[in-house]
Amino acid sequence: MEHVFIKGTNEQAPTFLLLHGTGGNEKDLLGLGREYDAEASLLGVRGSELENGMPRFFKRLGMGVFDLDNLTFRTKELAAFIDEAAVEHGFDRDNVIVIGYSNGANIAANLFFEVGNVVKGAILHHPMIPRTDVVVPDLSGLKVWMGAGQNDQMVPLEQTVDLNAYLIQAGALTEIFWHNRGHQLTAEEVQSAKEWYEANLK
Ligand code: MLT
Repeated sequence: MEHVFIKGTNEQAPTFLLLHGTGGNEKDLLGLGREYDAEASLLGVRGSELENGMPRFFKRLGMGVFDLDNLTFRTKELAAFIDEAAVEHGFDRDNVIVIGYSNGANIAANLFFEVGNVVKGAILHHPMIPRTDVVVPDLSGLKVWMGAGQNDQMVPLEQTVDLNAYLIQAGALTEIFWHNRGHQLTAEEVQSAKEWYEANLK
């Protein structure tokens, strides 16, 4: 996959797998990753699908309606990519944390739904339930923080609540931060994710 890797300054710090929203690219979340940990390695990835020229991590059939076959295919591609990138760039495969926004958060959620507990933790900004047609594998020990907007036009409240229920049911440890805005990231949301990361994963 198209990507950028920036080696961190501390061997013990994690590698952040950075997954952008629709229309973004591999560099979009580099600043956010740096904000969360100044010493971490950063692995920014570009989604392989294009929707009217806009990169995405998987195809959709309409707003919020996902092409599930393509979602499976692209999720497995991403899982394999993490393993390959660890070898190529020499980072600790057991110390990877996903940071995703919107479409990037959705494929991260699907990684948990279809592949399983393949990373140490996740910071998911405005995720949706990727699908409801699979049995979510055991996610014991996985730590997931989610940021959501009470007035998010793209992600109705129940999506966040239900995604949280799926994750907890599978054994993940979760936390949700709510703000009363829309689909955008807010400074408070970023601050909350950072504090959670420092308390739970650093
Ligand atoms: C998606 O298609 O993944 C969601 O609708 C969010 C987005 O538009 O990126």
